[in-house]
Amino acid sequence: MGKIILTGDRPTGRLHVGHYVGSLRRRVELQNSGQFEKVFIMIADAQALTDNIENPEKVRQNIVEVALDYLSCGLDPAKSTLFIQSQIPELCELTFYYMDLVTVSRLQRNPTVKSEIQMRNFEASIPVGFFTYPISQAADITAFKATTVPVGEDQLPMIEQTREIVRKFNSVYDEVLVEPEVLLPENQACMRLPGIDGKAKMSKSLGNCIYLSDTAEEVKKKVMGMYTDPTHIQVSDPGHIEGNTVFTYLDAFCKDEHFERYLPDYSNLDELKAHYQRGGLGDVKVKRFLNSVLDETLEPIRARRKEFEKDIPEVYRILKEGSEKAREVAAQTLSEVKDAMKINYFSDEELIRTQSEKYGK
Ligand code: TRP
Repeated sequence: MGKIILTGDRPTGRLHVGHYVGSLRRRVELQNSGQFEKVFIMIADAQALTDNIENPEKVRQNIVEVALDYLSCGLDPAKSTLFIQSQIPELCELTFYYMDLVTVSRLQRNPTVKSEIQMRNFEASIPVGFFTYPISQAADITAFKATTVPVGEDQLPMIEQTREIVRKFNSVYDEVLVEPEVLLPENQACMRLPGIDGKAKMSKSLGNCIYLSDTAEEVKKKVMGMYTDPTHIQVSDPGHIEGNTVFTYLDAFCKDEHFERYLPDYSNLDELKAHYQRGGLGDVKVKRFLNSVLDETLEPIRARRKEFEKDIPEVYRILKEGSEKAREVAAQTLSEVKDAMKINYFSDEELIRTQSEKYGK
């Protein structure tokens, strides 16, 4: 059987460069690699509602933003199925049955759910839907028999939960579901790209994001104001690389060939880092280089976004067509699941016959 990808994002805002290095860039490569039989990319609006119940309009508005970000990064509807989670009711049905396979205490131990509960001050008032979203995420993944789930590190507990549900289902009922593998970003910097203020994670509420849809001027302004090494005061001072946002971004974005084009005095990032650590290399020079690297990466994305923005009805059409295609696949899996669970009464002639015989007919 061929390999299948499923992954997705909550539509709570435009996507930023953290999403790009954490997953989007990889998805496009995988889509184009020819190694996957099918690629499903889901806009997880139903999951976004689990912790945005006061903000349904935000979720609704951001569906097209995320779709535009997807398309502009190179996800291609001819190769990948782009769809909206809420349009696949089969996912709810699967979730309901999987709920029997998971305990409350198991959900309480999920580290991602735990930290999200803290972050949102849910503590005593956790919405049930939010609490159970790892189960619904297992439905997302298994409905498409995904073998491979490219996501960030924070999603590891979700994939682990999915794998447990798959094993449990297959052992209780029948070998229907596929245990997925996680595919993590290529390096530490891509795993957790910090905000421009050096804070742990880029987040809309902290206002420290560089968005894929930012203009070149906006990006430049953000890069020039980036957090670096507060002890690096004079150019001649030795500087630190660790925790220096500009270098973390270079770890995530820069390739050797960028030096030839924008900073030919060095041949690779290691040389640049060594000079910075020795002293004698100013922040502005490094920031200008990073800006060139980012601009080279983001310019084609911005240009493609402009094209897709001209025809928004077409973007919705792509999502509708993708959702219809995705629904067929999920319906097929659901039917196999119900057969395995033997909740297929009306198509089970054996059941009808033996029940009749019980009554002597
Ligand atoms: N939980 C993911 C996030 O917050 C989004 C998501 C929902 C997802 N369902 C998924 C990711 C299934 C991978 C597979 O980013």
